[in-house]
Amino acid sequence: MIDLRKGDCLELIKDMRGDSVDISFTSPPYNRKRNDKYANFKDINDNWYQFNADVINELLRVTKGHVFYNLQANYYNRSDVYKLIGEFNENIVDIHIWEKSNPMPASGSSITNAVEYFIVMGDKSLKSNKTYTKNIITTSVNSKMPKEHKAVMKYEVAEHFISMFTKEHDIILDCFMGIGTTGVACVNLNRNFIGMELNDKYFEIAKARIDEAITAKQLTLF
Ligand SMILES: C[S@@+](CC[C@H](N)C(=O)[O-])C[C@H]1O[C@@H](n2cnc3c(N)ncnc32)[C@H](O)[C@@H]1O
Repeated sequence: MIDLRKGDCLELIKDMRGDSVDISFTSPPYNRKRNDKYANFKDINDNWYQFNADVINELLRVTKGHVFYNLQANYYNRSDVYKLIGEFNENIVDIHIWEKSNPMPASGSSITNAVEYFIVMGDKSLKSNKTYTKNIITTSVNSKMPKEHKAVMKYEVAEHFISMFTKEHDIILDCFMGIGTTGVACVNLNRNFIGMELNDKYFEIAKARIDEAITAKQLTLF
């Protein structure tokens, strides 16, 4: 089952039943207050903290298992990121790190930002499908990343989390789907997927990428 919904995720999630997905795995917009990452989306949300707190509360309501919430602390949002970690401290069971082996830009004598966090929330401890799973994944960020969306997730990162922490036929929700990286990983790994995206252009690209992955697997979109 691949179910793509266009619109504001906060509105769309409100229509979902409690405990109706197995995990949520998502990357909200960064709130960089400038538009260098998204050609088709204005990355300015004056109440970014409250928006994310509302989304996380809804994700905790609709998710049976764990919510994986990808946050990158930047100059503009860092106090909100750390406030969110404080606000949800009782729900947080783990924090996983995505380390970029070649982060850009290099920041001279200032600290180069080389990590993003995956805040893992739920009411039971997190177990992996494999033994010796570390709470860090390291990838390069290279020229093979899709060009249509500059805040796209590296495919290997989505594949890592979906393969380690879900089972075949589980339902995975990505409420900030972007151009559909999580959806492509779900198709390739035989998981069900619900994706939400506000921006028309990114939504259409996500649909095309997921269709392409389905065709490559010789499945049919229901
Ligand atoms: C960091 S990007 C996600 C990228 C995605 N992981 C990928 O690999 O393509 C965040 C996305 O959230 C979308 N977005 C922002 N506000 C939204 C909202 N209220 N509801 C749904 N999508 C939203 C933006 O258009 C953007 O594509």
